[in-house]
Amino acid sequence: MTVPAAGLPARVRVHEVGARDGLQNEKAVVPTEVKAEFVHRLAAAGLTTVEATSFVHPKWVPQLADAEQLYPLLGDLEGVRLPVLVPNERGLDRAMALGADRVAVFASATESFAKANLNRTVDETLAMFAPVVSRAKERDMHVRGYLSMCFGDPWEGPVEVGRVVRVCRALLDLGCDELSLGDTIGVATPGHVTALLTALTTAGVAVDRIGVHFHDTYGQALANTLAALQHGVTTVDASAGGLGGCPYAKSATGNLATEDLVWMLHGLGIETGVDLGRLSATSAWMADRLGRPSPSRTVRALTHQEQ
Ligand code: HMG
Ligand code: MG
Repeated sequence: MTVPAAGLPARVRVHEVGARDGLQNEKAVVPTEVKAEFVHRLAAAGLTTVEATSFVHPKWVPQLADAEQLYPLLGDLEGVRLPVLVPNERGLDRAMALGADRVAVFASATESFAKANLNRTVDETLAMFAPVVSRAKERDMHVRGYLSMCFGDPWEGPVEVGRVVRVCRALLDLGCDELSLGDTIGVATPGHVTALLTALTTAGVAVDRIGVHFHDTYGQALANTLAALQHGVTTVDASAGGLGGCPYAKSATGNLATEDLVWMLHGLGIETGVDLGRLSATSAWMADRLGRPSPSRTVRALTHQEQ
């Protein structure tokens, strides 16, 4: 049943991260053909932004070492945005060589995670991204700036809003088109989300340039998303079936499941363009490939109903 609530957007763009954030933490390497089919099925379910892979060092994320083989298999997907992660110019060169037109750099609000994830201080990572963003913009590419540990960090504890605002501003000053605020370890609660978004708005960051990226470790991802929607955010990251985690952040678990998100959005009368039945069938199919059930409540409910 659809029952709208006041003060929410009419439409939300779901930024699907299952093929990248979802799979990057899987120990057993998923065959490239299975990843390609996963992306095709996600697109067929109506997702228009499907993050495909990362051009990072293959030793750092072995699961995504097949980026060169995977990306060309997605060439027939017309009208679907296929962003890829690039940490540095080497990654950008690899992505450009395959014709990618949307890239994402990924920063950290904390020094500990910048070191663990990119082997650099926060300011050194920003210096590493500067030529990536400027070269990408010269080619009219779309650049997303991820920011991890926006709420809490496994080594440093709670993260002050002011630290987050500083790095967000730095990413926008480099030329990033949009931001994605990462709750990498899933510790945020709705008041904290509202406080961060208010601080960003006060610092002059337009809300239409902000996406949110919640992991669901403490079961707060949907509540946090609702707080972000109430603040005017219309881009929400999610991972089909709730797959995910970050190999360089202890205690990072799965992302907000796309199905759980879409169930809530459709119940509120918010358009997404996503076919929930096809999407949950895709996650059930992927769960079979991975050999364990999806952690998404919505996937489990819908696929049981269908059986
Ligand atoms: P480093 O060891 O400092 O690398 O790692 P380097 O710059 O010293 O280079 C060493 C060698 O690696 C060189 O080769 C480079 O060419 C090569 P050599 O000259 O010795 O033969 N190299 C590369 N090879 C292929 N592709 C590349 C590349 N770059 C250098 N792009 C580095 C630095 C950035 C490479 C490494 O730290 C890295 O790859 N990190 C990626 C970590 C990652 O992918 N983490 C997960 C994504 S972030 C995330 O999940 C959070 C998010 O979801 C939001 C949230 O939840 O908060 C986005
Ligand atoms: Mg993530």
